[in-house]
Amino acid sequence: MSNSYRVAVVGATGQVGTLMLQLLRERAFPASEIVPFASSRSVGRELEGDLVVRGLDEESIQGFDLALFSAGGSSSGEWAPRFAAAGAVVVDNSSRWRMQDDVPLVVSEVNPEALAGHRGIVANPNCSTMQLVVALKPLHDAAGIERLVISTYQAVSGTGKAAVDELLDQSHALLHERAIAPPESYAHQIAFNALPHAGSFAAGDDHTDEERKLIDETRKILGDPAIRVSATCVRVPVVNGHSETVNVQTREPLSPERARELLAAAPGVTVLDDPAAALYPLAIDASGQDDVFVGRIRRDPGHERALELWIVADNLRKGAALNAVQLAELLDTGGLLRAQPAGTTV
Ligand SMILES: NC(=O)c1ccc[n+]([C@@H]2O[C@H](COP(=O)([O-])OP(=O)(O)OC[C@H]3O[C@@H](n4cnc5c(N)ncnc54)[C@H](OP(=O)(O)O)[C@@H]3O)[C@@H](O)[C@H]2O)c1
Repeated sequence: MSNSYRVAVVGATGQVGTLMLQLLRERAFPASEIVPFASSRSVGRELEGDLVVRGLDEESIQGFDLALFSAGGSSSGEWAPRFAAAGAVVVDNSSRWRMQDDVPLVVSEVNPEALAGHRGIVANPNCSTMQLVVALKPLHDAAGIERLVISTYQAVSGTGKAAVDELLDQSHALLHERAIAPPESYAHQIAFNALPHAGSFAAGDDHTDEERKLIDETRKILGDPAIRVSATCVRVPVVNGHSETVNVQTREPLSPERARELLAAAPGVTVLDDPAAALYPLAIDASGQDDVFVGRIRRDPGHERALELWIVADNLRKGAALNAVQLAELLDTGGLLRAQPAGTTV
């Protein structure tokens, strides 16, 4: 008999949470019940599928087999261990647990084997890291990656719903020759601009936390701390879909033709690479799609063992919600979720 799980979705009213609910339904995850949680602001709100939002408290979190979190780092810090202590396996979208040694940081196509070591919490990587490693994995396996130089062009949806509204409001105001309200999501106006400031600067650090995540998480997921990573993360006025230029220097020689073949055969990757026909991945096309799209695959004229890539994906989908649901599926099929005996639910 197949398993059937009681599933909590924490942050269910947000962009990522809404998509996780949709994907659990679309992909027919074996759930006996799905319970949405959000902040106290949303308690009682009705969501699609006759779901009613609940608040987090010691009683409401009992009896779950699986908890998918996308409610920010502080909620995860406080509530993920409590869900885990109550018997659930937590898949967390925030950065709170990702670099902790005993927490697997997993991308379904890259290092699914790491799930086996979980101790109640599994971390879902940062969105820009996610799409990067899906594309890098086949190249790393074939030729060993020595160094990466990455520039991102990150959509505002990566910051949250409020940032999407701010981009649209600013654009509307400027197109109607009206003054914009003071920026709240970013340090500067995002409409018709590019900000070399995705994430935030911790005191004394000349890199943003987003850049640090890209560097640290890439090494952890690929299981190779020797890879040297340089990163600049830029926020651009795109609603959804992150783009990245990536210079990949390999230990062994790797031709663009071979890289194209490897990427075309890789799970979760679609190659779109015919620049003469203006065919390359675009954020507006990747938005709403599951795959990571790669194009502009070419030799770096500045280095004999380096290639240039352009990598685009839906940051809310593969970059967050889809990978979380794929991890839930792998936890189920791998026997790593323990359905609680009937009668234990509240
Ligand atoms: N956006 C991305 O591309 C992306 C990618 C990877 C990871 N993530 C991570 O996923 C998380 C959510 O991102 P998002 O874009 O979905 O944000 P969002 O649209 O702003 O949604 C935030 C969600 O968290 C809930 N929440 C906030 N404070 C809470 C609290 N104290 N207790 C319980 N729930 C609380 C909100 O509930 P209310 O509606 O009640 O306020 C809402 O459901 C963040 O940790 C983010 O870093 C996002």
